[in-house]
Amino acid sequence: MQAYRIHPGSGIEGLERVELPRRTLGADEVRIGVRAVALNYRDLLIARGQYSSGEAVIPCSDGAGEVLEVGAAVTRFKPGDGVVAAFFRDWIDGAPTAQNTAAALGGGVDGMLAEEAVLPEHALVAMPAHLDFVEAATLPCTWVTAWNALFVTGDARPGASVLLLGTGGVSISALQLAKAAGLRAIITSGSDAKLDRARALGADAGINYRTHPDWDQEVLQLTGGRGVDLVVEVGGEGTAMRSAAATRMGGTLAIVGGVSGFGSALQPGALIAGAKRAAGVYVGSRQMLEEVTRFLALTGIRPQVDRVFAFAQAREAYAHLAAGEHFGKLVVRVGA
Ligand SMILES: NC(=O)c1ccc[n+]([C@@H]2O[C@H](COP(=O)([O-])OP(=O)(O)OC[C@H]3O[C@@H](n4cnc5c(N)ncnc54)[C@H](OP(=O)(O)O)[C@@H]3O)[C@@H](O)[C@H]2O)c1
Repeated sequence: MQAYRIHPGSGIEGLERVELPRRTLGADEVRIGVRAVALNYRDLLIARGQYSSGEAVIPCSDGAGEVLEVGAAVTRFKPGDGVVAAFFRDWIDGAPTAQNTAAALGGGVDGMLAEEAVLPEHALVAMPAHLDFVEAATLPCTWVTAWNALFVTGDARPGASVLLLGTGGVSISALQLAKAAGLRAIITSGSDAKLDRARALGADAGINYRTHPDWDQEVLQLTGGRGVDLVVEVGGEGTAMRSAAATRMGGTLAIVGGVSGFGSALQPGALIAGAKRAAGVYVGSRQMLEEVTRFLALTGIRPQVDRVFAFAQAREAYAHLAAGEHFGKLVVRVGA
Protein backbone atom coordinates (compact mmCIF):
# COMPACT_ATOMS: atom_id res chain seq x y z
CA MET A 1 0.00 0.00 0.00
CA GLN A 2 1.02 3.60 -0.58
CA ALA A 3 1.78 5.72 2.47
CA TYR A 4 3.69 8.79 3.53
CA ARG A 5 6.43 8.64 6.13
CA ILE A 6 8.03 11.47 8.06
CA HIS A 7 11.25 11.64 10.01
CA PRO A 8 10.53 14.09 12.85
CA GLY A 9 12.63 17.19 12.29
CA SER A 10 13.20 16.60 8.59
CA GLY A 11 10.87 19.43 7.56
CA ILE A 12 8.06 19.27 5.03
CA GLU A 13 10.62 18.21 2.39
CA GLY A 14 11.24 15.10 4.50
CA LEU A 15 7.69 13.89 3.94
CA GLU A 16 8.30 10.90 1.65
CA ARG A 17 5.89 8.71 -0.25
CA VAL A 18 6.67 5.02 0.22
CA GLU A 19 5.27 1.60 -0.64
CA LEU A 20 4.72 -0.45 2.52
CA PRO A 21 3.68 -4.08 2.93
CA ARG A 22 0.14 -4.80 4.16
CA ARG A 23 0.13 -5.74 7.86
CA THR A 24 -1.55 -8.93 8.97
CA LEU A 25 -4.67 -8.36 11.05
CA GLY A 26 -4.81 -9.30 14.75
CA ALA A 27 -8.02 -10.74 16.24
CA ASP A 28 -9.14 -7.39 17.73
CA GLU A 29 -8.01 -5.27 14.79
CA VAL A 30 -9.77 -3.53 11.94
CA ARG A 31 -8.32 -2.75 8.50
CA ILE A 32 -9.49 0.65 7.31
CA GLY A 33 -9.40 1.88 3.75
CA VAL A 34 -8.48 5.49 4.53
CA ARG A 35 -10.51 7.98 2.46
CA ALA A 36 -9.49 11.34 3.93
CA VAL A 37 -6.90 12.76 6.31
CA ALA A 38 -7.11 16.17 7.99
CA LEU A 39 -3.98 18.14 8.84
CA ASN A 40 -3.27 19.72 12.20
CA TYR A 41 -0.73 22.26 13.43
CA ARG A 42 0.80 19.36 15.34
CA ASP A 43 1.73 17.69 12.03
CA LEU A 44 3.83 20.76 11.21
CA LEU A 45 5.43 20.71 14.66
CA ILE A 46 6.38 17.05 14.15
CA ALA A 47 7.83 17.81 10.70
CA ARG A 48 9.85 20.64 12.22
CA GLY A 49 11.08 18.49 15.12
CA GLN A 50 9.29 20.71 17.65
CA TYR A 51 7.06 17.98 19.06
CA SER A 52 8.17 15.09 21.22
CA SER A 53 8.14 12.09 18.93
CA GLY A 54 10.81 9.58 18.09
CA GLU A 55 11.13 7.34 15.07
CA ALA A 56 9.88 7.88 11.54
CA VAL A 57 6.14 7.24 11.36
CA ILE A 58 3.21 7.44 9.02
CA PRO A 59 2.09 10.99 9.94
CA CYS A 60 -1.26 12.60 10.80
CA SER A 61 -3.67 11.72 13.59
CA ASP A 62 -6.90 12.57 11.86
CA GLY A 63 -8.46 10.23 9.35
CA ALA A 64 -11.74 8.71 8.25
CA GLY A 65 -12.34 5.69 6.11
CA GLU A 66 -14.23 2.54 5.41
CA VAL A 67 -13.81 -0.78 7.18
CA LEU A 68 -12.27 -3.26 4.74
CA GLU A 69 -11.73 -6.27 6.99
CA VAL A 70 -12.17 -7.18 10.66
CA GLY A 71 -10.31 -9.61 12.93
CA ALA A 72 -12.04 -12.67 14.36
CA ALA A 73 -12.82 -11.06 17.74
CA VAL A 74 -14.16 -7.73 16.42
CA THR A 75 -17.81 -7.11 17.36
CA ARG A 76 -18.47 -3.35 16.91
CA PHE A 77 -17.70 -2.96 13.20
CA LYS A 78 -18.15 -4.80 9.91
CA PRO A 79 -16.81 -4.28 6.38
CA GLY A 80 -18.39 -1.24 4.75
CA ASP A 81 -18.83 0.78 7.97
CA GLY A 82 -17.55 4.37 7.98
CA VAL A 83 -15.18 5.02 10.90
CA VAL A 84 -12.93 7.65 12.42
CA ALA A 85 -9.94 6.82 14.59
CA ALA A 86 -9.45 8.40 18.00
CA PHE A 87 -6.35 10.62 18.44
CA PHE A 88 -5.13 8.54 21.40
CA ARG A 89 -5.40 4.89 20.46
CA ASP A 90 -5.95 3.68 24.03
CA TRP A 91 -7.66 6.55 25.94
CA ILE A 92 -11.20 5.31 25.93
CA ASP A 93 -12.78 7.32 28.77
CA GLY A 94 -12.10 8.78 32.20
CA ALA A 95 -9.03 10.83 33.05
CA PRO A 96 -5.86 10.88 30.95
CA THR A 97 -2.94 8.81 32.23
CA ALA A 98 0.61 8.28 31.03
CA GLN A 99 -0.49 4.84 29.84
CA ASN A 100 -3.66 5.70 27.93
CA THR A 101 -2.05 8.69 26.17
CA ALA A 102 1.19 6.90 25.27
CA ALA A 103 0.06 5.96 21.75
CA ALA A 104 -0.95 9.05 19.77
CA LEU A 105 -1.58 8.49 16.07
CA GLY A 106 0.98 10.08 13.79
CA GLY A 107 3.29 10.80 16.75
CA GLY A 108 4.40 7.80 18.79
CA VAL A 109 2.63 5.31 16.52
CA ASP A 110 1.70 5.23 12.85
CA GLY A 111 -1.00 7.65 11.79
CA MET A 112 -3.47 7.92 8.92
CA LEU A 113 -1.68 9.38 5.89
CA ALA A 114 -1.76 6.07 4.02
CA GLU A 115 -4.10 4.07 1.84
CA GLU A 116 -4.79 1.70 4.72
CA ALA A 117 -4.55 1.76 8.51
CA VAL A 118 -4.81 -1.12 10.96
CA LEU A 119 -6.11 -0.27 14.44
CA PRO A 120 -7.69 -2.08 17.38
CA GLU A 121 -11.46 -1.77 17.30
CA HIS A 122 -11.40 0.05 20.66
CA ALA A 123 -9.68 3.00 18.90
CA LEU A 124 -12.54 3.51 16.43
CA VAL A 125 -15.82 5.39 16.41
CA ALA A 126 -18.62 5.16 13.84
CA MET A 127 -18.76 8.13 11.46
CA PRO A 128 -21.81 10.37 11.76
CA ALA A 129 -24.12 9.54 8.84
CA HIS A 130 -24.55 13.15 7.67
CA LEU A 131 -20.84 13.73 7.08
CA ASP A 132 -18.70 12.67 4.14
CA PHE A 133 -15.20 11.26 4.66
CA VAL A 134 -13.53 14.66 4.15
CA GLU A 135 -15.63 16.28 6.88
CA ALA A 136 -15.41 13.31 9.25
CA ALA A 137 -11.62 13.26 8.97
CA THR A 138 -11.49 16.56 10.90
CA LEU A 139 -13.08 15.17 14.07
CA PRO A 140 -10.44 13.25 16.07
CA CYS A 141 -7.99 16.02 17.03
CA THR A 142 -9.54 19.38 16.20
CA TRP A 143 -13.16 18.79 17.13
CA VAL A 144 -12.40 16.70 20.19
CA THR A 145 -9.99 19.37 21.43
CA ALA A 146 -12.60 22.09 20.90
CA TRP A 147 -15.26 19.95 22.62
CA ASN A 148 -12.97 19.24 25.57
CA ALA A 149 -11.89 22.91 25.89
CA LEU A 150 -15.47 24.22 25.77
CA PHE A 151 -17.57 21.64 27.56
CA VAL A 152 -15.28 19.35 29.59
CA THR A 153 -12.35 21.45 30.82
CA GLY A 154 -14.18 24.74 30.23
CA ASP A 155 -17.56 23.52 31.54
CA ALA A 156 -19.32 26.17 29.41
CA ARG A 157 -23.07 26.52 29.94
CA PRO A 158 -25.61 28.03 27.53
CA GLY A 159 -25.35 31.81 27.64
CA ALA A 160 -21.67 31.83 28.59
CA SER A 161 -19.22 33.95 26.59
CA VAL A 162 -16.16 32.44 24.96
CA LEU A 163 -13.11 34.00 23.31
CA LEU A 164 -11.56 32.19 20.34
CA LEU A 165 -8.17 33.11 18.88
CA GLY A 166 -7.54 33.04 15.14
CA THR A 167 -9.50 31.14 12.53
CA GLY A 168 -7.60 27.86 12.35
CA GLY A 169 -9.01 24.39 12.85
CA VAL A 170 -9.53 24.39 16.62
CA SER A 171 -10.99 27.91 16.79
CA ILE A 172 -13.43 27.46 13.92
CA SER A 173 -14.70 24.12 15.20
CA ALA A 174 -15.04 25.73 18.65
CA LEU A 175 -17.01 28.55 17.00
CA GLN A 176 -19.37 26.10 15.32
CA LEU A 177 -19.84 24.18 18.58
CA ALA A 178 -20.24 27.33 20.67
CA LYS A 179 -22.98 28.75 18.49
CA ALA A 180 -24.89 25.48 18.35
CA ALA A 181 -24.71 25.29 22.16
CA GLY A 182 -26.03 28.81 22.77
CA LEU A 183 -22.77 30.48 23.75
CA ARG A 184 -21.68 34.00 22.87
CA ALA A 185 -18.55 33.76 20.71
CA ILE A 186 -15.96 36.51 20.22
CA ILE A 187 -13.20 35.65 17.77
CA THR A 188 -9.92 37.28 16.73
CA SER A 189 -8.07 37.04 13.43
CA GLY A 190 -5.26 38.78 11.60
CA SER A 191 -7.55 39.12 8.58
CA ASP A 192 -10.77 41.14 8.17
CA ALA A 193 -11.89 38.82 5.36
CA LYS A 194 -11.60 35.84 7.72
CA LEU A 195 -13.51 37.74 10.41
CA ASP A 196 -16.32 38.24 7.89
CA ARG A 197 -16.36 34.50 7.27
CA ALA A 198 -16.43 33.87 11.04
CA ARG A 199 -19.38 36.26 11.43
CA ALA A 200 -21.17 34.41 8.64
CA LEU A 201 -20.69 31.25 10.73
CA GLY A 202 -22.32 32.95 13.71
CA ALA A 203 -19.52 34.77 15.56
CA ASP A 204 -21.09 37.52 17.68
CA ALA A 205 -18.05 39.79 17.38
CA GLY A 206 -14.71 39.78 15.61
CA ILE A 207 -11.49 41.65 16.45
CA ASN A 208 -8.52 42.03 14.12
CA TYR A 209 -5.48 41.46 16.34
CA ARG A 210 -3.21 43.21 13.84
CA THR A 211 -5.15 46.46 13.67
CA HIS A 212 -6.10 46.13 17.38
CA PRO A 213 -2.97 44.85 19.11
CA ASP A 214 -4.72 45.62 22.43
CA TRP A 215 -7.51 43.18 21.55
CA ASP A 216 -7.95 42.21 25.22
CA GLN A 217 -9.26 45.74 25.83
CA GLU A 218 -11.70 45.29 22.95
CA VAL A 219 -12.94 42.06 24.55
CA LEU A 220 -13.45 43.86 27.85
CA GLN A 221 -15.44 46.57 26.08
CA LEU A 222 -17.58 43.99 24.32
CA THR A 223 -18.36 42.33 27.66
CA GLY A 224 -19.20 45.49 29.59
CA GLY A 225 -15.82 45.50 31.34
CA ARG A 226 -16.36 42.05 32.80
CA GLY A 227 -14.37 39.76 30.49
CA VAL A 228 -15.35 36.44 28.93
CA ASP A 229 -16.18 33.32 30.92
CA LEU A 230 -13.79 31.14 28.93
CA VAL A 231 -10.90 31.45 26.50
CA VAL A 232 -9.88 28.64 24.17
CA GLU A 233 -6.21 29.64 24.29
CA VAL A 234 -4.44 28.46 21.14
CA GLY A 235 -2.02 31.40 20.82
CA GLY A 236 0.54 30.61 23.52
CA GLU A 237 3.36 32.91 24.45
CA GLY A 238 2.22 35.86 22.31
CA THR A 239 -1.39 35.84 23.52
CA ALA A 240 -1.69 34.17 26.94
CA MET A 241 -1.31 37.32 29.06
CA ARG A 242 -3.89 39.22 26.98
CA SER A 243 -6.19 36.21 27.13
CA ALA A 244 -5.92 36.26 30.92
CA ALA A 245 -6.71 39.99 30.93
CA ALA A 246 -9.77 39.35 28.73
CA THR A 247 -11.12 36.68 31.13
CA ARG A 248 -13.61 37.57 33.85
CA MET A 249 -12.82 37.11 37.52
CA GLY A 250 -13.18 33.41 38.29
CA GLY A 251 -13.19 32.57 34.58
CA THR A 252 -11.22 29.85 32.80
CA LEU A 253 -8.40 29.70 30.29
CA ALA A 254 -8.41 26.37 28.49
CA ILE A 255 -4.75 26.18 27.50
CA VAL A 256 -4.66 24.44 24.16
CA GLY A 257 -1.82 25.61 21.95
CA GLY A 258 0.98 27.91 20.96
CA VAL A 259 0.73 29.17 17.39
CA SER A 260 2.91 32.09 18.49
CA GLY A 261 5.24 29.82 20.50
CA PHE A 262 5.00 27.47 23.47
CA GLY A 263 7.38 29.38 25.77
CA SER A 264 6.39 30.48 29.23
CA ALA A 265 4.24 33.62 29.14
CA LEU A 266 1.43 33.30 31.64
CA GLN A 267 2.53 34.91 34.88
CA PRO A 268 1.00 33.64 38.14
CA GLY A 269 -0.09 37.16 39.06
CA ALA A 270 -2.32 37.32 35.99
CA LEU A 271 -4.37 34.48 37.43
CA ILE A 272 -4.16 35.08 41.16
CA ALA A 273 -5.66 38.56 41.35
CA GLY A 274 -8.79 37.55 39.43
CA ALA A 275 -8.99 34.02 40.85
CA LYS A 276 -8.79 32.81 37.26
CA ARG A 277 -8.20 29.20 36.36
CA ALA A 278 -5.81 27.91 33.66
CA ALA A 279 -6.15 24.27 32.68
CA GLY A 280 -4.26 22.32 30.03
CA VAL A 281 -6.22 20.46 27.37
CA TYR A 282 -4.73 17.39 25.71
CA VAL A 283 -7.08 16.51 22.85
CA GLY A 284 -9.46 14.06 24.51
CA SER A 285 -10.72 10.53 24.94
CA ARG A 286 -12.66 8.25 22.62
CA GLN A 287 -15.71 9.03 24.73
CA MET A 288 -15.31 12.74 23.89
CA LEU A 289 -15.04 11.80 20.21
CA GLU A 290 -18.30 9.87 20.59
CA GLU A 291 -19.91 12.85 22.35
CA VAL A 292 -18.90 15.34 19.67
CA THR A 293 -19.96 12.93 16.94
CA ARG A 294 -23.39 12.56 18.55
CA PHE A 295 -23.71 16.33 18.94
CA LEU A 296 -22.88 16.91 15.27
CA ALA A 297 -25.41 14.27 14.23
CA LEU A 298 -28.09 15.92 16.40
CA THR A 299 -27.38 19.46 15.24
CA GLY A 300 -26.48 18.69 11.63
CA ILE A 301 -23.27 20.75 11.91
CA ARG A 302 -20.78 20.15 9.11
CA PRO A 303 -17.10 20.96 9.76
CA GLN A 304 -15.66 23.89 7.79
CA VAL A 305 -13.21 22.46 5.28
CA ASP A 306 -11.22 25.16 3.53
CA ARG A 307 -9.45 23.10 0.88
CA VAL A 308 -9.04 19.49 -0.17
CA PHE A 309 -5.77 18.20 -1.64
CA ALA A 310 -5.10 14.98 -3.59
CA PHE A 311 -2.97 12.26 -1.95
CA ALA A 312 -0.09 13.14 -4.27
CA GLN A 313 -0.25 16.77 -3.01
CA ALA A 314 0.40 16.01 0.67
CA ARG A 315 3.51 18.20 0.81
CA GLU A 316 1.56 21.04 -0.78
CA ALA A 317 -1.12 20.63 1.88
CA TYR A 318 1.50 20.87 4.64
CA ALA A 319 2.99 23.99 3.02
CA HIS A 320 -0.46 25.53 2.79
CA LEU A 321 -1.02 24.89 6.50
CA ALA A 322 2.36 26.44 7.30
CA ALA A 323 1.39 29.56 5.32
CA GLY A 324 -1.59 30.06 7.67
CA GLU A 325 -3.96 31.29 4.99
CA HIS A 326 -6.61 28.69 5.69
CA PHE A 327 -9.93 29.14 7.48
CA GLY A 328 -10.92 25.95 9.31
CA LYS A 329 -9.48 22.71 8.02
CA LEU A 330 -7.21 21.40 5.26
CA VAL A 331 -7.83 17.82 4.18
CA VAL A 332 -6.00 15.31 1.97
CA ARG A 333 -8.24 12.94 0.04
CA VAL A 334 -6.94 9.38 -0.14
CA GLY A 335 -7.92 7.09 -2.99
CA ALA A 336 -10.44 7.82 -5.72
N1 LIG B 1 -3.61 20.67 23.31
C1 LIG B 1 -4.21 20.02 22.35
O1 LIG B 1 -4.80 18.98 22.58
C2 LIG B 1 -4.21 20.59 20.98
C3 LIG B 1 -5.04 20.04 19.99
C4 LIG B 1 -5.09 20.68 18.74
C5 LIG B 1 -4.28 21.80 18.49
N2 LIG B 1 -3.45 22.23 19.46
C6 LIG B 1 -2.64 23.42 19.26
O2 LIG B 1 -3.51 24.51 19.07
C7 LIG B 1 -2.95 25.45 18.18
C8 LIG B 1 -3.91 25.66 17.01
O3 LIG B 1 -3.99 24.47 16.26
P1 LIG B 1 -4.81 24.43 14.90
O4 LIG B 1 -4.65 23.06 14.34
O5 LIG B 1 -6.14 25.01 15.09
O6 LIG B 1 -3.90 25.43 14.04
P2 LIG B 1 -4.16 26.08 12.63
O7 LIG B 1 -5.35 25.49 11.96
O8 LIG B 1 -2.84 26.05 11.91
O9 LIG B 1 -4.54 27.60 12.98
C9 LIG B 1 -3.61 28.54 13.26
C10 LIG B 1 -4.30 29.93 13.21
O10 LIG B 1 -3.90 30.67 14.34
C11 LIG B 1 -4.02 32.03 14.04
N3 LIG B 1 -2.86 32.75 14.57
C12 LIG B 1 -1.60 32.71 14.15
N4 LIG B 1 -0.85 33.52 14.91
C13 LIG B 1 -1.69 34.08 15.82
C14 LIG B 1 -1.54 35.02 16.87
N5 LIG B 1 -0.36 35.56 17.15
N6 LIG B 1 -2.65 35.34 17.60
C15 LIG B 1 -3.83 34.80 17.34
N7 LIG B 1 -4.03 33.91 16.35
C16 LIG B 1 -2.97 33.58 15.62
C17 LIG B 1 -4.13 32.18 12.53
O11 LIG B 1 -5.49 32.58 12.27
P3 LIG B 1 -5.81 33.97 11.51
O12 LIG B 1 -5.20 33.80 10.14
O13 LIG B 1 -7.28 34.06 11.51
O14 LIG B 1 -5.16 35.08 12.28
C18 LIG B 1 -3.86 30.76 12.05
O15 LIG B 1 -4.58 30.44 10.89
C19 LIG B 1 -1.60 24.88 17.77
O16 LIG B 1 -0.60 25.42 18.60
C20 LIG B 1 -1.74 23.39 18.06
O17 LIG B 1 -0.51 22.80 18.33
C21 LIG B 1 -3.41 21.66 20.69
